[in-house]
Amino acid sequence: MKRQEFVQILLRRADGKPAARGEAFAPVNIALCKYWGKRDAELNLPVNSSLSVSLGTLGTHTVITFAQAADRIFLNGKPAPKEFAERLSTYFNLFRSKGQFFEVRTENNVPLSMLARLGSGSAARSLYSGFVVWHAGERADGMDSYAEELSGVWNNLRIGILEVSKARKETGSTEGMNRTCETSELYEAWPAQAVCDFDELRTAIAAQDFPMFGKTAENNALAMHATMLAAWPPLCYWKPQSLVLMQKVWQARAGGLDLYFTMDAGPNLKLLFLEKDALTVRKLFPKVQTVCPFS
Ligand code: DP6
Repeated sequence: MKRQEFVQILLRRADGKPAARGEAFAPVNIALCKYWGKRDAELNLPVNSSLSVSLGTLGTHTVITFAQAADRIFLNGKPAPKEFAERLSTYFNLFRSKGQFFEVRTENNVPLSMLARLGSGSAARSLYSGFVVWHAGERADGMDSYAEELSGVWNNLRIGILEVSKARKETGSTEGMNRTCETSELYEAWPAQAVCDFDELRTAIAAQDFPMFGKTAENNALAMHATMLAAWPPLCYWKPQSLVLMQKVWQARAGGLDLYFTMDAGPNLKLLFLEKDALTVRKLFPKVQTVCPFS
């Protein structure tokens, strides 16, 4: 099925007249069980279900209205970079009627390049706060592949953002996962691991079992990166500093600290820890930006 056809089916299901103005906030989400690989690239349907935690008030606020002769896309008050504006306009082509244009004003308060991911698979998880699952689904038309909020609040959970680089990554996630699926022998093992990790994370969240939660998330991230390293040409999103920080986490953990990390397709680390260790973590990583996802 083509994207356009899928959108038409969804639009037919929606009732009511389109509003002249829309406004929404979407939080950044950090995947704990990663989405890596598509079962259908046209419809952006994932191979495996994924699970994330949203970062509270860190995210993007967007206002959308109609425009006159062409789309007008603004990012943080300035005309958006060409590539970003084009990606958004292409996305609007799925919805617009003939001769309809949009003005989009989007404000981003995160140091991560989440906006570039608008219209991405993982963005589906940013519709909700707290823990969110995105079901892979099985149907070819994708009608059973959707995101939903998981019940459960974990008040003393903390996420620490450690930025290693602001630079745009050389290989985007779409290309990275395609290359991995096509060329990495290790990818064969990924769907089964993702299923186990997804279940373990749900159990750990329900029981608020932090060591199980941290271990599963960190191992899931490293397993995903291992599939990329085994791709050809090899894919390594890490910078030397990423590895320095990973070693520091492992060292701290060996010394008894309850500290874990996760990483997406990029060089930055997101630390996972509990409120009781916030001060120790800040001493170890003075540049950490700490987020309370549930407050
Ligand atoms: C490593 O959602 O950016 O962050 O759907 O192709 O646009 P596309 O990919 P994208 O991939 C995210 C990959 C990830 C893991 C995750 O967020 O689950």
